[in-house]
Amino acid sequence: MDHQNEKPFNNPNLFGQGWYYICPSRDIKKGRVYSFERFGKKLAVYRDSQGAVTVLHGKCAHLGADLSRGQLIGDRLECPFHGWQYDRSGAVVRIPQKLQKKVSRCVFAFPVTEQFKAIFIFNGPEPLFPIPDFPDGGPQQQVIKILKGEVINVHPHIATVNGFDISHFRFVHGLDLDDSQQVEVLNEHQMRITWKLPLNKPGWLNRFLKLIIGQPFVDMEFVSIGGNQSYARHVSKRWSIMILFNNYEIGDGRSMTTTIIIGKKGKGLWKWIGGNLLMIGYLHFAMNYILDQDRKGIFDHLDFQPKFTDADEALVKFRQLVNQLPTFEVPE
Ligand code: FES
Ligand SMILES: [Fe+2]
Repeated sequence: MDHQNEKPFNNPNLFGQGWYYICPSRDIKKGRVYSFERFGKKLAVYRDSQGAVTVLHGKCAHLGADLSRGQLIGDRLECPFHGWQYDRSGAVVRIPQKLQKKVSRCVFAFPVTEQFKAIFIFNGPEPLFPIPDFPDGGPQQQVIKILKGEVINVHPHIATVNGFDISHFRFVHGLDLDDSQQVEVLNEHQMRITWKLPLNKPGWLNRFLKLIIGQPFVDMEFVSIGGNQSYARHVSKRWSIMILFNNYEIGDGRSMTTTIIIGKKGKGLWKWIGGNLLMIGYLHFAMNYILDQDRKGIFDHLDFQPKFTDADEALVKFRQLVNQLPTFEVPE
C-alpha cells in the first residue's frame, strides 16, 4: 500500500527513523541466532565471534525463508532452506548451487549499538542521532536496571508525548509541579521540557527526598529523541538519575514500552543507600506505579482524536516535530 502522503504521527503504517530497543545484551549469546519482530518484519539477531551484534532483516533474499531459523557458519548466517550464506553487512557471500548467471543479493543490516546493557537498532540506513549518554560518569560508575517491558494500548508516539503533558502530571499522578515549565525544540530530532516539583509539603516522603537530593525541589528535564524514545533526567551534585523510555509497535495500535533506569554509583554507605537500594528500588516501584495510573485509567480506554487547546502547546510541538521526522521502510 502507498503511504507516501500520510503523516507519521500516531500512524501505524509508517515507522519513524530512530533507535528501537531489542533486548538486554546478556540475552544474546555468541553462536546462536535469535528471532525478533519489529516494524512488522522478522529480524535475525546474533553475536559474532568478536562479540559484536548483527541484526539482519530475517527474510532470505532467495525464496523468503526465515533466516533466524538458520545457523551460524563462523560469522556467516546460513539460510535453512538452500544454504545461502550472509555476512554481517547482509550481503550474500556464498551460494552453494551452481549458477549460470551470477547473482548479487543482500538483506538489510540494521545499524546496532549496545548501551546501558541493552541492544538497540536504528531504523534507517545510518543513525541520524545517538542514544543519549548518562552525563555523570562512564559505564563503570553506572547502576543500570532494565525493567520488564509493558504492553500499552497506544501508539509509541502517544506514549512519548505523555511526558510533555504537564497538566496530566497534576491530574492523574497528583504531582504538584510549580509553573516554571519550559518547552524547547532543541533540533530536528529532539524536544525538551523542564519542570520543578517543590518538596514543601509535610510528610516523610518529601523529607526523605529532600535528604537524598540535597535541595528542596526535584528538577527534571524530559527530552524526546525521535518519536519513540525519550528520557527524564535529574543531575545534581548528590544524586543523578536518568530514566530512558523506548517504545515500539506490536500491532493492533499497541506498543511495548521498555524503561531503563540509570543512576550513578555512590561511595561508601551512600553507595548502598543512594546507589542501589533506594534509587533503583524506589524508582522501579514509582515508575511501575505511574505507568499503571496512565495505563489503567487512561491508555487502556483512550480513543486519541486530539482537539488541542493552547494549554497543549508542548503536545502540538511534538506532533509537528514527529511529522517532520524521516520514516523508513525495510527494503524487501
Ligand atoms: S530461501 Fe534462503 S537460500 Fe533459498
Ligand atoms: Fe503519565
